[in-house]
Amino acid sequence: MGLFITFEGTEGTGKSTLMRMLAQKLTKHSYAVTLTREPGGTKLAEKIRKLLLYESMNAWTELFLYEAARSEHVEKKIKPALLQGKTVLCDRFTDSSLAYQAYARKLPWKTVKALNQLATQNLSPDLCILLDLPPKLGLRRAQVQTRFEKEGSGFQEKVNQGYMKIFKEEKNRFLKLNVKNKTPQELINIIIGYLNDKKKLNINNK
Ligand code: TYD
Repeated sequence: MGLFITFEGTEGTGKSTLMRMLAQKLTKHSYAVTLTREPGGTKLAEKIRKLLLYESMNAWTELFLYEAARSEHVEKKIKPALLQGKTVLCDRFTDSSLAYQAYARKLPWKTVKALNQLATQNLSPDLCILLDLPPKLGLRRAQVQTRFEKEGSGFQEKVNQGYMKIFKEEKNRFLKLNVKNKTPQELINIIIGYLNDKKKLNINNK
């Protein structure tokens, strides 16, 4: 099985730039990399993404659509890539549903966890990289406004508290990075150093 890494955080933490650069670095060192995102990653899940980001809906509909997109994504893209030994880098995954739908939207925590397990067939990431940035700074950096960004910094503050709750409960499965005042290159060096130490990668980090 390949290595499965997810990236989480509030809006505008620079996740996608960091992930693209990390993918380039791993590819340069001969790792086969699949770069993907949630909601999305397959043709159908990308259609569900458009509904999620721009249509208004109630919190349960929102949760079910995220889980529906996730089920497709895991089955059609993530699992096959991992079985081929690829390194999968995924922009958001089950922890987003906990931080956004359970914590910020106040849906029952246990139900969201149970749906996450069903949608992923119990697949969990080897590591979650949590990018930590004060939500007010993040929102200023975000360029295209989705439904979630329009909800403003109060909502993002709640999402941030949600991530901190998950992190405190299960520290071992996270690498939490404070992104303020750090360049993507510095962050990549930290990530690669960490994965080398844990013997999950073998890269000469020069
Ligand atoms: P996106 O534009 O990809 O945001 P970002 O660049 O910050 O990752 O939009 C994805 C949005 O969907 C984002 O606001 C977080 C939200 N989301 C959930 O609420 N629950 C989920 O399970 C997932 C995967 C995403």
